[in-house]
Amino acid sequence: SEPPVVDDRLAGRKVVVSAGGTREPLDPVRFLGNASTGSQGVALAEAARDRGADVVLLAANLEVPVPVGVRVVAAPTAEAMLAAAVAEAADADLVIMAAAVADYRPAEVAQAKLKKDDLGDVLTVELVRNPDVLARLAADRPRHGQVVVGFAAETEPDPDRRLALGRQKIARKGADYLVLNEVGFDRGFGPGETAVTVIDRDGRVVGEASGGKPSVAAAILDVVAPA
Ligand code: CTP
Ligand code: CA
Repeated sequence: SEPPVVDDRLAGRKVVVSAGGTREPLDPVRFLGNASTGSQGVALAEAARDRGADVVLLAANLEVPVPVGVRVVAAPTAEAMLAAAVAEAADADLVIMAAAVADYRPAEVAQAKLKKDDLGDVLTVELVRNPDVLARLAADRPRHGQVVVGFAAETEPDPDRRLALGRQKIARKGADYLVLNEVGFDRGFGPGETAVTVIDRDGRVVGEASGGKPSVAAAILDVVAPA
């Protein structure tokens, strides 16, 4: 059964949200991954759905259940994410890149399982840069008035220095908004509480929110998708 529409603030709008973390294969059974579970991106997809939007979730190896009432497109690697994001952004009003996209992938993917006996005691893996999906989306802008939002997970503990990193990052990416949050071995991932600062393309702080990921998602939408 379809979930109830809580309100219609985003009725008739298409919202694309990426979530999770890409996994870059080394061989058929191994990959290079990251700690993202997809919980914040999924919460954003649910929040947009609850405002009546048509929501597409670009799903990179989610460790949380996919929401009902949204269309899910599998995007397990950075290259798959680029293809899916470019295709779905074509007619989107709002694109939010909440996924942790791997910056590098193994230069070669073995077609059979790597074997220790063939590799010895030290294994060196060459990595090559992945495409930057957010920068590409921000440069393309296929639809007039489309809003493009990035995330930046930083381990920098000092809030002012974190903000400075965010300002450099949004300038580099060309996005409209950047959602900054602090991550570490003990914070930022999974179902717990989170705290974010939203900056605009001029580096101004335009939103702050903390709490559970659903309420933070709603606060982010209030800033980046005003009715
Ligand atoms: N991103 C992306 N494609 C990549 C890498 C990142 O679309 N290949 C997006 C992420 O989804 C996120 C934003 O860019 O919305 C910022 O990601 P982040 O890793 O914080 O920034 P990077 O530019 O990769 O810089 P860093 O060297 O700090 O990792
Ligand atoms: Ca990165």
